[in-house]
Amino acid sequence: MSENELAGKVALITGAGSGIGRGIATVLGRRGAELVLTDLDEAKVREAASDLGGTALPHDVTSWTSCQEVVGRVLDSHGRIDVLVNNAGVSRSVPFHELDEAEWDRVHNVNVKGVFLTTRAVVPHMMERRGGSIISISSMVGKEAIPLFVHYSASKFAVIGLTQGLAKEMAPYDVRVNAVCPGVVRTPLWEPLLKQLSAAKGITRGEAWQEFVDGIPLGRPQEPEDIGEAVAFLASERARNMTGQGINVTGGMQLH
Ligand SMILES: NC(=O)c1ccc[n+]([C@@H]2O[C@H](COP(=O)([O-])OP(=O)(O)OC[C@H]3O[C@@H](n4cnc5c(N)ncnc54)[C@H](O)[C@@H]3O)[C@@H](O)[C@H]2O)c1
Repeated sequence: MSENELAGKVALITGAGSGIGRGIATVLGRRGAELVLTDLDEAKVREAASDLGGTALPHDVTSWTSCQEVVGRVLDSHGRIDVLVNNAGVSRSVPFHELDEAEWDRVHNVNVKGVFLTTRAVVPHMMERRGGSIISISSMVGKEAIPLFVHYSASKFAVIGLTQGLAKEMAPYDVRVNAVCPGVVRTPLWEPLLKQLSAAKGITRGEAWQEFVDGIPLGRPQEPEDIGEAVAFLASERARNMTGQGINVTGGMQLH
């Protein structure tokens, strides 16, 4: 592998102001990609771009207008998009009998419609150029669902379905479409659940976190950059014959 294997490639990463998105940007930048980082949170994405190098753009993945604007601006400024990483996502634990329509819609709007709209805005360009790599961040719960996250699990299964169908549709254009399924990565996404569990069980947040870590066969959580490594591989020519896949990065928690 050449250290600079993504040199000359323009990578657009959504939700890049925080957690896994920032970790993905770190690794792609290290491999030489030109970064375009987008997020709903403008301050955080500007900070990420100033730390890592690259362009920061405000982006609401649930809005078609916003997706079109972002893609238009990148094509104007950079002339191409080689890699799209659909990373923006939201989650919350809710018992199913308390789950309401607003929470269902909130999660599906970002996690499913957001992937659809951003990808829909980028795909005509990749078809025209006959090339590109689209990588969406699903989850291990997009392969095997868990209680209290029924709506979130359903949204992550949908990302796998979108990935598989689009991979077959885009194959004649040499546009590859894959997913990465993280397991347990401590990001701000986890804090509300850890707070809830620590209060319910009378333990600290650190102890609540350790209970999850104890369930990982390799005995350690994944770091945002571990997810970035899988994304960098899928973005590179080394993965030129891989499409429609959902790669687990779970320390052995998810095996298929
Ligand atoms: N942390 C984990 O353990 C884990 C495990 C499996 C999958 N994931 C997935 O990884 C992805 C990143 O999660 P994370 O843990 O880094 O969470 P995070 O909360 O740290 O980051 C998510 C980012 O998405 C942005 N975002 C939210 N709504 C948006 C919108 N409408 N438009 C644009 N940006 C928006 C947020 O501002 C934030 O910067 C998500 O898709 C999540 O479901 C996370």
